[in-house]
Amino acid sequence: MDIPWWRDAVVYEIYVRSFADASGDGVGDLAGVREHLPYLAELGVDAIWLTPFYPSPMADGGYDVADYRGVDPLFGTLDDFESLVTDAHRLGLKVLVDVVPNHSSSEHPWFQAALRGEHRDRYIFRAEPNNWQSTFSGPAWTKLPDGQYYLHLFAPGQPDFNWRNPEIHREFLDILRFWLDRGVDGFRIDVAMGLYKAKGLPDIQDQSFKSVSPIWGQPEVHEVYRSWRKLLDGYPGERMAVGEVWTDSSEDLALYVRPDELQQSFNFAWLQAPWSSTAFKKVIDDTLAAVPFATWVLSNHDVVRHRTRYDTADPGTGLMRAKAALLTMLALPGSAYLYQGEELGLPEVKDLPPEARQDPVFIQSKGELVGRDGCRVPLPWSADGASYGFSPDGVAPWLPQPATFAALSAATQAGDPGSTLTFYRRALACRRELVGSLPYTLEWLDSPEGALFFTRGSLICALNCGTEPVRLPSHGGVLLPSGPLDGDLLPPDTAVWLRTSS
Ligand code: GLC
Repeated sequence: MDIPWWRDAVVYEIYVRSFADASGDGVGDLAGVREHLPYLAELGVDAIWLTPFYPSPMADGGYDVADYRGVDPLFGTLDDFESLVTDAHRLGLKVLVDVVPNHSSSEHPWFQAALRGEHRDRYIFRAEPNNWQSTFSGPAWTKLPDGQYYLHLFAPGQPDFNWRNPEIHREFLDILRFWLDRGVDGFRIDVAMGLYKAKGLPDIQDQSFKSVSPIWGQPEVHEVYRSWRKLLDGYPGERMAVGEVWTDSSEDLALYVRPDELQQSFNFAWLQAPWSSTAFKKVIDDTLAAVPFATWVLSNHDVVRHRTRYDTADPGTGLMRAKAALLTMLALPGSAYLYQGEELGLPEVKDLPPEARQDPVFIQSKGELVGRDGCRVPLPWSADGASYGFSPDGVAPWLPQPATFAALSAATQAGDPGSTLTFYRRALACRRELVGSLPYTLEWLDSPEGALFFTRGSLICALNCGTEPVRLPSHGGVLLPSGPLDGDLLPPDTAVWLRTSS
């Protein structure tokens, strides 16, 4: 059987506003991404995922789309996009783009028409709201001057579409075609477990991301992905889609990746697990048992960076654990999604001044929830300059960067054999060499308490989550450790790839 490219792919998430600013307005853009494609090719990833760059009033950093077939001037032009895709393909990188089907921007012409009282059945209008809350805090309903309320599960600037209206289906198939015709290799589907709301919009007790609730995971949504899959399969070149599915059950996750639906869905279980070999083993077992093609994620633009998550649990361990977790995940069957800056070991920026924060989570909760700006701080490319090489010199980036970014910049780390960046490059190069020969299964080996040992073909991976060093399993040579080994001992917060002895 031919293995599809995405099965073992390492995909690098680019939060476009914060990656690289070529135009000099303090905001990252497509030309900035294009300039740094060689960096990504050298890093050794297989694909990039671009967060929304479509025309948007930016009520939620672009996840409020006003025109699904264009490029916001802040990010460039359609020509810039096409050049980016051409260059990426030339470098052997696939390109995924974000599609946001649960809601549009309130500036979208359809919502503007709805405000005028035309075609309100494209959105969800009611005379009386129910008790649903916005994911970003506050009520999920906003009242219009004419007395009607509209539903927005996120910001008021993100009205939810009514997927019970067939016009929405036709529109999104057409949007997908638009980008497929421009050469994209796939889509990341925003809030993929959303779209349909239970008929009658009943009140709910629990608003959290449960597998099935009146808000999330309605069975009708799977029909949408069946039709999208047919469309993808009609294009040459293994076009794919990965769903953003927040759920508390791996069986539920599996529903989205049935053979006639999406190829992948994000598996956020590891990202939510504590630093524990037992917890990680359970996540791995549950995931591999539930889904045919696994994905692994440590960080993205919505969560606290994993270096800081681990560090908060046990101060001083963050970077060691972040590298050990990465090495372990890269040894697992399936595809890994990296988030920009993790290869530099960037921490969450916790001390952003309130007036700099832009996340609607912070704004809507009136500062009660700190929000996600801390993982979206513009990348440091060089050790000096006003924005550490993010913007042309003299330009202030859209979020302030801390002084600690100088030492973490890509240029500082590139030539340093002991840097996090060098470690990521080595790990990705080693994985690329091995991955084709490894079986898509793993076997657990006996391991001491607090540790996790498994093999895949000729590879052994050992991770020590405990507080004492453990003896390495018997092996035929060290391939790559995430930190210094102590002879035949694996120190705490360290992982290693080994060759099997046979
Ligand atoms: C997804 C995105 C997040 C956005 C939300 C609403 O969860 O990842 O950034 O705020 O959807 O579109």
